Amino acid sequence: MSTPAESQCNPVHVAIIMDGNGRWAKARGLPRNAGHRQGAGNVREIVRASADLGIRYLTLYAFSSENWKRPKEEVDELMKLLARFLKEQAKEIRKQGLRFRTIGDISAMPADVRELLEKTIAESANNNGGTLTLALNYGSRQELLNAVKLYAEDVQAGRARPETLDWQTLSSYLYTADMPDPDLVIRTSGERRVSNFLLLQGAYAEYYFCEKNWPEFGRADLEEALRSYRARERRYGMTGEQLREKDNCQDSLPTS
Ligand code: FPP
Repeated sequence: MSTPAESQCNPVHVAIIMDGNGRWAKARGLPRNAGHRQGAGNVREIVRASADLGIRYLTLYAFSSENWKRPKEEVDELMKLLARFLKEQAKEIRKQGLRFRTIGDISAMPADVRELLEKTIAESANNNGGTLTLALNYGSRQELLNAVKLYAEDVQAGRARPETLDWQTLSSYLYTADMPDPDLVIRTSGERRVSNFLLLQGAYAEYYFCEKNWPEFGRADLEEALRSYRARERRYGMTGEQLREKDNCQDSLPTS
């Protein structure tokens, strides 16, 4: 039986805005790229912790559509770290039976990174031990524009009818089409912004802001975020009384 402080189940889908690599490095008198290297190491830790904690979907904001504006050396380092991560993580992905995927426009990624991404996606496509998603060259507004363009093409070709358009249909054009919406979105580094990340999918998500910079966000911090999540009541526009009549563990979202 759940206690009042932990009234619901663990989240099915946790999404993380990994922020604060630069500040972690600066606080130690190190270059920003040292922070990214430490941050990349921590991605491995948190992927493992999240699988151990039974989280079915883990989505990490690794590179936003806006991150191309950073200095070239920094973008190059992030791409290098990503390539290294994919090579090193292949064994872990196989061992844990994870399905790897991306959201965002990966056609703009450097060719070597894109090839590694496509290889990892293809090799893990039939795994069912949980889904690890990297958001790469991702931005919610770009995602929505892309979805609307694809939908408009279908309307023009007579495959879709605007009169019957509902959220379920429109959301099937998003990068996240076959994923559940995030239940819990975590942001590290003390910033309280969502920065163009899963804006529509997070409509009913719980948000958790942690003061620690990403390289220091460990398993215990993830567990603390889960505890905070379990202590909340998700009402989806209903009253608490209505909710308590239903099973609290059925986090079903309204579809329209
Ligand atoms: C934000 O820190 C971090 C990012 C730009 C994205 C996250 C990147 C990593 C964790 C490293 C590589 C990723 C993988 C998957 C291998 P920031 O630079 O914005 O920090 P600041 O706000 O303190 O400057």
